[in-house]
Amino acid sequence: MGETNASAAPPLQLEGAVAVVTGGAGGIGRGIVGALLRRGATAVIADVEKAAIEAAVEGLSAHGPVTGHQVDITDEDAVATLADAVYDAHGRVDLLFNNAGVTSGGGGKPWQQEPNDWRWCFGVNVFGMAICTSTFVPRMIEGGRPGQVVNTSSGDGGFAPVPMASVYAASKAAVSCFTESLHHNLVSDGTALRASVFYPSGGLLRTGLFTAARNRPEHLARRGEATGRKSMTFDEMKAMLAKGGRDVTEADLDELGDFAVTEAAARRYIIARDLDHTVALLHRRADAIAHREIPPHHGMPL
Ligand SMILES: NC(=O)c1ccc[n+]([C@@H]2O[C@H](COP(=O)([O-])OP(=O)(O)OC[C@H]3O[C@@H](n4cnc5c(N)ncnc54)[C@H](O)[C@@H]3O)[C@@H](O)[C@H]2O)c1
Repeated sequence: MGETNASAAPPLQLEGAVAVVTGGAGGIGRGIVGALLRRGATAVIADVEKAAIEAAVEGLSAHGPVTGHQVDITDEDAVATLADAVYDAHGRVDLLFNNAGVTSGGGGKPWQQEPNDWRWCFGVNVFGMAICTSTFVPRMIEGGRPGQVVNTSSGDGGFAPVPMASVYAASKAAVSCFTESLHHNLVSDGTALRASVFYPSGGLLRTGLFTAARNRPEHLARRGEATGRKSMTFDEMKAMLAKGGRDVTEADLDELGDFAVTEAAARRYIIARDLDHTVALLHRRADAIAHREIPPHHGMPL
């Protein structure tokens, strides 16, 4: 089912628009920032990693107006300060990309996950997204202008879990579920805002997600024994998938950013490429649910 007429909204004008991108200093977020700038938007990077912010601003400023703010999105006061700074500088926000995200560490068995694995992963992926939403969206609604909130989920959790990444999957299921509720409320309240949920896809994504622990705060470090699974590097994961006969073509992050920005401007609810396999999996999941059976997962080796 597509959008109902009540939720259909005219395309957003990107030329001159103001966009905030959390996690915009690296990986997928940096691709989004570059795409925004190439379309004539002003981009504000909100990221926790100072050196990456500086490199992104330096590397992208030739394409358009971009600023960077070092912000931990799990810190409500820091996000409030960011919002004040953005509104002082630009007077509005038209697009909010809640994109910053982390893993929960090395994964492992669900019962090996510590409270601190949950706190860190849900802190960034769920609470960080929620804090930015609660901070920016009321001001965006009050501004009365058309706008879009784009929450980055993952096929892992958003559609079906990868069982060895249980905490991450649970966090992304939360992002997808929350975004759907957000969209319905934005429509039913008669606002000019819409929400999108973004499933990065279209190949393997060589990003910093595999070294996300570089940003894990000391006070949320694991306390107990290791789970026996260390974080995989991107190349290790690629080699594992290749060994399993999977397609290991890498996606171009600039192209992915272009796609996400184009779809956000078109006010598309689901932003995703190459959905055929996912749709087939979702049909099989629905069939299993109808039969009161455990739904099939993404099929990665356990
Ligand atoms: N890489 C993939 O295969 C993949 C697949 C699906 C979804 N995603 C999602 O895409 C999003 C972007 O991840 P990526 O793959 O580009 O990884 P990445 O590590 O390259 O980028 C994530 C960015 O978030 C920032 N960040 C981390 N913690 C933060 C915090 N507390 N406050 C502010 N910024 C913080 C990091 O500094 C980094 O710049 C994440 O939400 C991730 O879960 C990634």
